[in-house]
Amino acid sequence: SNEHKTRILSSIRDVKDFPKEGIIFKDITTLLNDKEAFNLLMNHLEDRYKDYDLDYVAGIDSRGFIFGAALADRLKIGFVPVRKKGKLPSTTVCEKYELEYGFDEVEIHLDAFHEKVGAKVLLIDDLIATGGTANAAAKLIKKVKANLVEACFLLNLSFLDGKKRVEEHTTVYTIFNV
Ligand code: PRP
Ligand code: MG
Repeated sequence: SNEHKTRILSSIRDVKDFPKEGIIFKDITTLLNDKEAFNLLMNHLEDRYKDYDLDYVAGIDSRGFIFGAALADRLKIGFVPVRKKGKLPSTTVCEKYELEYGFDEVEIHLDAFHEKVGAKVLLIDDLIATGGTANAAAKLIKKVKANLVEACFLLNLSFLDGKKRVEEHTTVYTIFNV
C-alpha cells in the first residue's frame, strides 16, 4: 500500500556531501536496522515476485546482496552474486563498464545457474543511477544463457536516466523514483 511505501521510503536516510561535496547519498542502513521498514519492504517484494515462478535471484555487489539474498529465501529459491572483479574463485565470465573516471568490471560464475539454459532470473540492486553496473550485470546473465525476467531496484535516480539502458535487456521495476 501507499502507506507502507511511505513508511519504507522515510526509513532511507539522505546524507549530504557523501562521498563528495554536492552528492546526496541514499543511505539504506537506516532501512535495514529498522525491523518494521525492512519487513514491509520484504513483504512487498515477496508479494510482487511470488507468482513469477523464478529459479534464482541475482544480486549486485554489495548492497544488492542484502535484499537479493533475503528475497531468495522468501521465495525459497537460490541466490547468485554478481561480484566486482577478482572476488569469485571459480571460472567466471566478466563484463567491463564505464565509471565517471575509468572502468570497472563485474563477474559471475559460469555455472552460477547450474548451466540451466533459460533459468528464470530476477536481477536486484538497491539503487540504479547511471545504469552502468546493472547493464553489465544484465549482460552477464545473458552470457551464461539464463533468462533475465526482470530487474528490480529499490531506488531509481530518475534524472540520470539509467533505467533506459537496462530496459534494452528486460523489464525494469523500481519501487521509488527520486
Ligand atoms: C552503487 C549502488 C549500485 C550502483 C549504481 O554501488 O549500490 O550498485 O552504485 O550506480 P550506477 O547505476 O551508476 O552503475 P557501489 O558501486 O557504490 O557499491 P556498493 O553497493 O558496494 O556500495
Ligand atoms: Mg551497489
